[in-house]
Formats: sequence, structure tokens, C-alpha cells
Amino acid sequence: MGNWAEECEAKILAKMPAVAERSRGIIPYSAQNGRFDDMSKDRIGWWTNGFWGGLMWQLYAADPREVYRENAIRTEEEMDRCFLDYRSMDHDSGFRWLPTSLAHLRVEDSPESYNRLRLAADNLAGRFNPIGNYIRAWNDWDESRNGGWAIIDCMMNLPLLYWAGKTIEDPRYTEIALRHARTAAQHFVREDGSVCHIVEFNPATGAFVKSLGGQGLGVGSSWTRGQAWGLYGFTLSYRHTKKEEFLDTVRKIADAFLRRIPASGLIPVDFDQPLDCSWEDSTAAAIAACGFLELSKYVNNITYQEAGERLLRTLAEKRCNFDPETDELVEKCTAAYHDEKHEFPIIYGDYYFVEGILRLTGKGIFIWG
Ligand code: GLY
Repeated sequence: MGNWAEECEAKILAKMPAVAERSRGIIPYSAQNGRFDDMSKDRIGWWTNGFWGGLMWQLYAADPREVYRENAIRTEEEMDRCFLDYRSMDHDSGFRWLPTSLAHLRVEDSPESYNRLRLAADNLAGRFNPIGNYIRAWNDWDESRNGGWAIIDCMMNLPLLYWAGKTIEDPRYTEIALRHARTAAQHFVREDGSVCHIVEFNPATGAFVKSLGGQGLGVGSSWTRGQAWGLYGFTLSYRHTKKEEFLDTVRKIADAFLRRIPASGLIPVDFDQPLDCSWEDSTAAAIAACGFLELSKYVNNITYQEAGERLLRTLAEKRCNFDPETDELVEKCTAAYHDEKHEFPIIYGDYYFVEGILRLTGKGIFIWG
């Protein structure tokens, strides 16, 4: 390990105490003019709300300041409101409760956190469609019937089910995760190793209907965050099941991603976006980096470790704001290609960047199942 990662960790740990103190009582999604927004009042069901707690727990593991722990626990407690509103319960239970409740359990005993994980796992398992062998992503949106929609991001929620299967010693959870992962390998991963974002199935027959463009450029394109969710998510399915089929799948995805990393090391929003479009998504870089580092544990190929380090180092040198007076850490993140707004701070960019750096320095905690 070159000492660049240790220097980067030192910069993160120098910046974040001030950010955490300023951000007591909020759950950020993004930032404007260097100040975080707050989802805790009106948008407690937003899918990214767990990442603030996760960021706090990762920092606490590296530097046990009480402010990190208090912010993390407050976030976890605020999110209890989700359990009382079905609209706040979708397939993103993994993103909500692994960085909060499981991270909490990794640091200290917490019966309340265990309870939340059990409730979240049961709810996620209840979204499984046994006819099509997929986990339904979202609830219906007004007129839109989404019962047949599954999305690649869900691969990152499966570790909640792997955790439940192992912890409760009840094979149903693992079986549901396994079946969803197999469906995703079959219908989301293309021959060239790229992945699509959304697939629509017929919920009554289970038949594949079509794939949808989702948050990328369009149908058939390679939305980079989706590629990153697939890369990290299938690697985690391998970690938890040790089934070679997932390692084969993830190697295809990883190699396709590697082939398309630009010379700059900065990741576009979609690998297929027009050449004159320079929009970036730093979250895709940070998530893919974590996926490459995890994959390198199972595949004897230094390329994956190097790719993970290079992506993180590029972010550290070109896209990070280490000023303690500025709330956000990682800049130039993009939620969706067709949104009006691009290249702004997003909390899961900060989370995965810090997870990756602390993985390199050996100070972080593993929270994905
Ligand atoms: N899970 C939604 C996204 O990645 O934006």
C-alpha cells in the first residue's frame, strides 16, 4: 500500500469532526454552497438515508469520537418511522439498514439494531416474486404499476438476506437472495459484460418482458453506477454463497468496466454517453472501487486491486474537497443522466469513498452482510 491512502485517510479524519459537529440532527442527501441538506423531516423514506449513518460508523471505527456514534444512532432511530409507512419500505432495505443497524452491531451490541435488521429482512423477503424469481424493486407510483420491475441496484440489498439466513439459520432468506441473483445474472448481464438498469417481468407469469433505460442514457446503454452496483453486488453474492457462477458473472462485469475506464480515471455518468458530453458520476467510481477491492480477495489478479486503488486515488486527487469548512467530501456526482442537474455532491459518494479508503488502510468495518 502506497502511503497516498494513509495521507488521504488523515485528510478525511482531519475534516470530518467539524462536519459531524455541524450536522448534528440532520440526515443529508446532498449539499449546496458547502452545506448539507436534511432529509430527516420530510423525506425519511428516501433510499439513501442510511448512508449518513454508515459514514459516521466507518469514521467511528477509524477515530472513535462520540459525535460520530451519536449522529449514527440518531439516524438509525429517526429511520424507525419507515417501518410505519409502507411507502418507505421498498427493495432498498439493504441500503437503509446495513449501513445503520448492521454497522452498529459491528461496533457494539444493540438489541434494537438486531430487531430492525430482522424487520427489514422480513420485509425484503416479502417482496420476492416466486413466479419470476425476482425481488420487486419499488411500490406502484400513482398510475404506474411496477409489480414486474426489478433493478440491478438490488444486488447490493441482497446481503441483508444473506445476513438473515446466516444469523437466524433460516435458509429461506439465502434461497431468495440466491434466486434473485440468478435471475439478475440471466436477464441483466449482457454478453459483453455490461448490465442494464431495469428489467420488467410479467408478475403473473414471471416471463421477461423488456429492459428499460432507467437512470442511464437509454435502453442498451451502460449506466456506470448500475455497472458498479452489479460489480460490487455479484461479488458480495459470491462472498456469501461461494458459488462459482457469481464469480464468472462478476469477472465479465469487472472486465467490461475495466476496458471502459477513461485515461483520466474519472467515470462518466454512462459509458455510452455522447463524446461531447463530459458529465461525471464520482459515486460510480467510488462504488466500483469498493467492488474491485472486494473482488481482488477472491480472484488472483492484481489488476482488480490496482483498478480499485486507481479509482480511489483519482477521486482523492481530483474530486475531493478536504476543507473542514465544506460539508461534502466527494464532488461531481450524478443521480441520473436525464435529470436536469448533474455533478453535485451525493452522500453515498462520500460513504463509498470513505469505505474504500478505510479498507485500504485497514481501519474500516465490513457492513455488507
Ligand atoms: N439506487 C438508485 C441509484 O443508484 O440511484
